[in-house]
Amino acid sequence: MDFNDELLRWYEKNKRDLPWRHTSDAYIIWLSEIILQQTRVEQGLPYFYRFIEKYPDVTSFAAANEDAILKLWQGLGYYSRGRNMLKTARIVHELYNGKFPQSYQQLIKLKGIGEYTAAAIASFSANEAKAVVDGNVSRVISRYFGIDEPINSTKGKKIFQETADELLNKQQPGLHNQAMMEFGAMLCKPKNPACGICPISLGCYAFINGATAALPVKLNKVNVRERFFNYFLIKDEHSILMNKRDETDIWANMYDLPLIETKTLIAADELLTLPIVEEFFGTNIIVLDVSQVKKHILTHQRLYVRLIILYSKPLKLKQNWFFTPVENLKKLAVPKIIFILIEKIINL
Ligand code: ADE
Repeated sequence: MDFNDELLRWYEKNKRDLPWRHTSDAYIIWLSEIILQQTRVEQGLPYFYRFIEKYPDVTSFAAANEDAILKLWQGLGYYSRGRNMLKTARIVHELYNGKFPQSYQQLIKLKGIGEYTAAAIASFSANEAKAVVDGNVSRVISRYFGIDEPINSTKGKKIFQETADELLNKQQPGLHNQAMMEFGAMLCKPKNPACGICPISLGCYAFINGATAALPVKLNKVNVRERFFNYFLIKDEHSILMNKRDETDIWANMYDLPLIETKTLIAADELLTLPIVEEFFGTNIIVLDVSQVKKHILTHQRLYVRLIILYSKPLKLKQNWFFTPVENLKKLAVPKIIFILIEKIINL
């Protein structure tokens, strides 16, 4: 029984019909891969369709403004990816005359494209013999070959890449790569893999040794930063006070509300005694309501977010603050968590 033959046979029979599998357009594949780094296939599909409808090629993408891209990206999180896409599209437009590169060597030089994405685009669009290694692929390899080196250690990454390179079907690298990922996603799943119907279980180290739950090994990455965001919702009859975020933090260049960040979760009445509250809003304020604290998990940060609904008048606007009609909120690139909190208070 040959691993690769069985893999392709399984794939042809069981693959999902996904739109990016019907194209060799490197731009479309790039778009799909960046979205899929961020979310699962079912959730990513509507985003994918919205993007290709609005920006059918890299030239139209490159001509977009950042707000429009962030708006379409809204809800996917990790907004720097959306912003990097725009930078990449503009570079491709200039450097390659609007034709998205297909070769690994050219792709890997682009912003936001790492080894995995470069291998995926090069192999899917031009059948370049580069093996993709993502979480799905390393799981399959770890279990089948019984490799217990952590998949996220430097040494582990090297071993999994080398093994995937050796295994790669050099005649049909694109198909092989898709098949490996699909096999990991659909059959050799993290929990409850479908070993009972697996066509290669008899050659699989983990199956033979009852080690599917133990493999792959992953090092626990700690270092999660906790942050406490106290947002102020200030609104008159028609307008709401918004803030445009700067470049230096999460949600760069997106829109949120006036914010006071604290080092710990402090009670709302204690918060209101801080000098910065007076600096922001003066002394003439009335607290109308305080929302629950909502936890929001990001890759390296845990946010605790709440809204304080404030009546404040008159108000000297800080830089980056502006009033906008409430109807306009839907058009702004507001991080989803903030949008949801606002929506609970105001009918949008
Ligand atoms: N996840 C990442 N890339 C994918 C692809 N091309 N097809 C299905 N799932 C994926």
